[in-house]
Amino acid sequence: MAIWNLGSINADMVYAVPHLPQAGETLAAGDMQTFLGGKGANMSVAAARGGAHVCHIGAVGPEGKWAVDRLMEYGVDTRHISMTETPTGHAIIAVEPGGENQIILFPGANQAIPSDQLGQALSAANAGDILILQNETCLQAEAARMGREMGLRVCYAAAPFDADAVKQVLDTLDFLILNEVEAEQLRLATGKTPDALGVHDVVVTIGAKGARHFDGESGEVSEVAALPVTPVDTTGAGDTFTGYVLAGLDRGMPMKQALTLANKAAALMVTRHGTADVIPDLKEVQDARF
Ligand code: RIB
Repeated sequence: MAIWNLGSINADMVYAVPHLPQAGETLAAGDMQTFLGGKGANMSVAAARGGAHVCHIGAVGPEGKWAVDRLMEYGVDTRHISMTETPTGHAIIAVEPGGENQIILFPGANQAIPSDQLGQALSAANAGDILILQNETCLQAEAARMGREMGLRVCYAAAPFDADAVKQVLDTLDFLILNEVEAEQLRLATGKTPDALGVHDVVVTIGAKGARHFDGESGEVSEVAALPVTPVDTTGAGDTFTGYVLAGLDRGMPMKQALTLANKAAALMVTRHGTADVIPDLKEVQDARF
């Protein structure tokens, strides 16, 4: 089995700031580091580190070879990443000492992925493979439809959240992951609670309380409790969680086991500064004691 990820690739410029900036405020950062990032790239790296075969579908700009090389180095299949005239996406990320962040996103090449490239990539997918999408690229609805028609397990990480973007793919989804606030926003937009969305598996992350799984078939609701850690940087923790859940499912784990593994990976991730480059590998996750 494989995971196909139509996903963003960014250069993350991460600034350590004493507090998150207010409107009109000029703020000096104590440190600045550059990482590989993008919700898509983070999920690809997490899923690869979680033991899955991951094929990333995306685009970078003329100066973006470093990002493709890094994904390859991290075990991601990069054959379906194209180089476009549009510059590589980037994110300017402020992180305060408690680990909370603020992100400014420049989408760049993530919105210029050629549609024929998507078709070519997915023609190599097999029924039962996972297709994951997030809301940082173009072609989300096309990919979701294609995936559905091909018998792929279509998954959507609703981040950055936009209720309209979710509504466009909702009827094609097998798996949806979003946070508690977003689940409420989606309820207001659709009139439906997570258990009534018609999606086989809905995972709602509930911040410091962990995650809740709604099994659309049995109607069962179960929870995984968050682990006690002191966060230094929460950036990419949600992406790490998603990548690890999908890697677990792809490797045949029951949902509860996949969520438990992902929970540990995300807990470790918030104790580290940075994004894709610092996502823990499977051994670190398995060995971690909380
Ligand atoms: O979720 C974190 C990610 O959001 C960062 O890596 C940044 O690039 C933005 O996409």
